[in-house]
Amino acid sequence: MTYTNTLESVSAEGSVYYLFGATGDLARRKLFPALFSLYKEGKLSENFAVVGLARRPRTNEQFRADLYESIVEFCRYKADDAELWNRFAEHFVYMSLDINDVEGFKELSKLSEQLDAKFDIPGNRLFYLALAPSLFGPVSFNLRDGGLLESKGWHRVVIEKPFGYDLPSAQKLNEQINQVFKEEEIYRIDHYLGKEMVQNIQVIRFANAFFEPLWNNNHIANVQITLSETVGVEDRGGYYDKSGALRDMGQNHMLQMLTMIAMEPPSRLHGEDIRDEKVKVLRSLRNYKSSDEVRENVVRGQYSEGSHHGKDLPGYRQEDSVGEDSTTETYFAAKVFVDNFRWAGVPFYIRTGKRLPVKTTEIVIEFKSMPQNVLFAQRHDLAPNLLVIRVNPLEGIYIKVNAKTPGENNSVQPVAMEFCQSCQVGLNTPEAYERLIHDAVRGDSTYFTRWDEVSQAWAFVDRIAQAWREDKGDLKQYPAGSWGPDAANQMLGEDGFHWWPVNGQEEDKVIWVSNSGK
Ligand code: BG6
Repeated sequence: MTYTNTLESVSAEGSVYYLFGATGDLARRKLFPALFSLYKEGKLSENFAVVGLARRPRTNEQFRADLYESIVEFCRYKADDAELWNRFAEHFVYMSLDINDVEGFKELSKLSEQLDAKFDIPGNRLFYLALAPSLFGPVSFNLRDGGLLESKGWHRVVIEKPFGYDLPSAQKLNEQINQVFKEEEIYRIDHYLGKEMVQNIQVIRFANAFFEPLWNNNHIANVQITLSETVGVEDRGGYYDKSGALRDMGQNHMLQMLTMIAMEPPSRLHGEDIRDEKVKVLRSLRNYKSSDEVRENVVRGQYSEGSHHGKDLPGYRQEDSVGEDSTTETYFAAKVFVDNFRWAGVPFYIRTGKRLPVKTTEIVIEFKSMPQNVLFAQRHDLAPNLLVIRVNPLEGIYIKVNAKTPGENNSVQPVAMEFCQSCQVGLNTPEAYERLIHDAVRGDSTYFTRWDEVSQAWAFVDRIAQAWREDKGDLKQYPAGSWGPDAANQMLGEDGFHWWPVNGQEEDKVIWVSNSGK
């Protein structure tokens, strides 16, 4: 049986794609490779054109050379078929554009008509804004005033995160964009929603008789979501120092994964029905009422000097474009409650940070312990059952159960049964951006964030940020290469839990039954 959403069968219609920020890092690392993979897999029709837009001058040839380099370096497919490559590259043109100058947009409009004629495109327009949020409004106005929305096909705008800095700025941004585009034309990207295993959460939950009946506060003790990174802020200090982990990862990726775990089954596998259920979760998040509550439930940290695999690493305050006395958090861990019927009383622990020991995203569902029945009367240390969803870089799931140790009476030991998706030879998982671009082109906004989701998430995060502004002393340092402030361990310890090791760190303590050949 195939699992399809309602638009699965709709193929990409011909369209002009406008890439604002075409000389930037995102285009090079993610967007160009995604377009090539889609093309190679036949998911883009031949009726398309891509216009690269940025301020710096570039010829079409130079632009195509950049494109080629990016694909060689970052794409999961090789560009080794010269005929295919030339056919693909022919669809790309470049135009230097000052985004504050409407005259340039009028030129762009004329160019678009030529591209429509050349590639037999029915006037469809997809604008991809890989730009700073402050430019979303001005670009939208100039798209309208430059005549780009007058073509007879559909018009869609894809917007990169961050969508604002807090609720008021996001509202302002949204109001500006809404003057030009309708909500159903706006595709707000959260690339975590394009990840295979995040989308798989729905299938694991709703297609398995032994998960869904247990998916509630009667059987689940807690949920842990870890998104750890080994990198520091790299060359993004200027952006990151104003943002911090809470805004960079919490408001979007972390809360989105939480909603996928906590949402009710939608009535249909239809984008709006799924998003309706997700927003209900965000509305049910318990808001911290005071700074004291924030301090009790949220730990924030910043990395100091440390080391990783023998390599010395600088502290956050020594990074480029970061203030010497910066109080920006590079780590946070929070205890979150979803106050609804299903989840009342179940803590969701979420944590994310830079310069942690491993790069991984994992979701652990810890089930409540068995009552100590007669068989286990002597054992008080039975490990709870776990369902672990591995999002990144390993992809797959495993469940941890207890089984008898062969040959020994009454001896119990944990066994993990694993499905490792990323270990499967030939299962070349599409990148998140491939899925999302393909969805946007087909008009499927299921895995994009709707305004009510974005605003609810900001409202939740703003309360924490507000408390932190009032309570600067609360920032804890952690050495680069460590698992963050100890306070995050204490937070779970006080509830009788602990963070489960992620990324296979305790695999030797468990017997594995795995398709990866462990
Ligand atoms: C981005 C953040 O949204 O996600 C980055 O801005 C972060 O700070 C990145 O490094 C992580 O994404 P992934 O897919 O590599 O886990």
